[in-house]
Amino acid sequence: MKLSFKFASALAIMMLAMPLGAAPKIVLGFSQIGAESEWRTANSESIKSAAKDAGIDLKFSDAQQKQENQIKAIRSFIAQKVDVIAFSPVVESGWETVLREAKAAHIPVILSDRAVDVKDDSLWVSFMGSDFVEEGRRAANWLVDDLNKRGMKGDVNIVELQGTVGSAPAIDRKKGFEEILKSHPNLKITRSQTGDFTRAKGKEVMEAFLKADKKINVLFAHNDDMAIGAIQAIEEAGLKPGKDIIIVSIDGVKGAFEAMMAGKLNCSVECSPLLGPQLMEAVKDLKAGKTLPKRIVTKEGVFPAEVAAKVFPTRKY
Ligand code: AHR
Repeated sequence: MKLSFKFASALAIMMLAMPLGAAPKIVLGFSQIGAESEWRTANSESIKSAAKDAGIDLKFSDAQQKQENQIKAIRSFIAQKVDVIAFSPVVESGWETVLREAKAAHIPVILSDRAVDVKDDSLWVSFMGSDFVEEGRRAANWLVDDLNKRGMKGDVNIVELQGTVGSAPAIDRKKGFEEILKSHPNLKITRSQTGDFTRAKGKEVMEAFLKADKKINVLFAHNDDMAIGAIQAIEEAGLKPGKDIIIVSIDGVKGAFEAMMAGKLNCSVECSPLLGPQLMEAVKDLKAGKTLPKRIVTKEGVFPAEVAAKVFPTRKY
């Protein structure tokens, strides 16, 4: 068989580029929720850079907040026969069918950041991310301490900005926060609505709360972005955020530290988005035939405004 000169040279270049015996790259399909918050952007960056560092071929798909797009992405990863699928589910329910399809194709699925609500937990191999219930408890415990320090013993009216309806962090943070409030009957959630984890929605809903209610003592926001949006609404209403209204939120993003240093936010409970390196380790372990722990919990802290300036230079997101 005669090879054309062009074809033969292309073949030679390919052979030089791929040393003999080099293992093919592991292929990871990742379905991200979207880009709703500073947290999510940091999470996507962490996953992309960790995949690059680990030499993993990442197929990254942005679902733009839609579950149907995540399901489509997972189906396309199955069709492409990727080695591992990972995703951060926008909501908890509605995943059985597609997860069963992945299992039937023998592709392991890792849940990153958020959990799913499925009866058969053999449909996913590991869930890595924060303990959202604990984050809600931490926010409430910080509040109880802070109110004690201020000597506020009477009724305290709390408004709540919830995350995306049906999402694990919204459900769990509410649960953890309310669990602590049960032992403090003077602390009452007077209004609670979703702000969809975005600054714009956080601002809009806070404006409505402020119009409807003159007696707001505390804002509990399920993430920093909604708190930052709400801060704008509070200022536009002629009030001082962090002083007239005590604000506690969750994530610990740089924007929250800036707001704390400016005296506008009182506390941010940490929720780390830097899951990339851990995820790549897990993907490699799976390919090496190791069994992953079913649950990998991220270690996190609580940052009251008093420590913000000192901690800020060390923050990575
Ligand atoms: O699932 C994590 C949450 O999702 C973060 O707290 C929030 O900012 C993000 O959008």
